[in-house]
Amino acid sequence: MRYLILSDVHSNLEAMRAVMAHASRKRRDGVLFLGDAVGYGAAPNQVVERLRMMGNVVRSVRGNHDRVVLDPTQGAVFFNNHARRAAAWTAELLTGANQRWLESLPVGPREVEAGLEICHGSPADEDEYLFTEPEAQLAYGATEAKVIFFGHSNVPCMFELTEQGGRQSVVGVLLRGSRVVIDLDPTRRYLINPGSVGQPRDRDARASYGLYDSEARRFTLYRVAYDVDAARRRIMAAGLPPILGDRLLHGA
Ligand SMILES: [Fe+2]
Repeated sequence: MRYLILSDVHSNLEAMRAVMAHASRKRRDGVLFLGDAVGYGAAPNQVVERLRMMGNVVRSVRGNHDRVVLDPTQGAVFFNNHARRAAAWTAELLTGANQRWLESLPVGPREVEAGLEICHGSPADEDEYLFTEPEAQLAYGATEAKVIFFGHSNVPCMFELTEQGGRQSVVGVLLRGSRVVIDLDPTRRYLINPGSVGQPRDRDARASYGLYDSEARRFTLYRVAYDVDAARRRIMAAGLPPILGDRLLHGA
């Protein structure tokens, strides 16, 4: 099976459009969505509608922002000021149908096929960030899957786990570049973040997404330029905190 992998779209319609146009030329059997359709950006309904329109080919998990917009009082606990304001603004604007779609998103981790799972933050907790090798090593303990795709940190990266003589070691790498191809070793385990479509945070402003061929065990990461200024203008026009637009310019 060949999967298109999307994560952390964060209500960025311009980035979503660019990614879908770029990916339209690639053969795929399904779509994996790792959560956070909404939050931060200014086009929540348009983004959710695009995901909804893909129908059954999409296997999704809920993100923390998808959860909080359904109950913005949670923002006080989980979010900084800007994220909290964006969540309250989004909650006001969402149509009933889009709200119901967000409500229907299952909590991860979720098995997609034997040995392949998707989750938002980590396999243990949708709110947990995986940045370091020790964090990834702990996360492997929460699942038996060989390959786990995760999001939430908005940083494209990979943690490879090798087991030798009962000893585990985890090596993490950032995935940098316009197109990064990784052939997975069937004897090892992988936690892979395809980066964020709509709010990249690795100092590369381009939208990020992945493709995974589960038979060939090949993962490819793509970066796609999009109209960042238009996404930023939309955020400013909505009266959302300007920093949410500015950060898109820097991919931070
Ligand atoms: Fe998230």
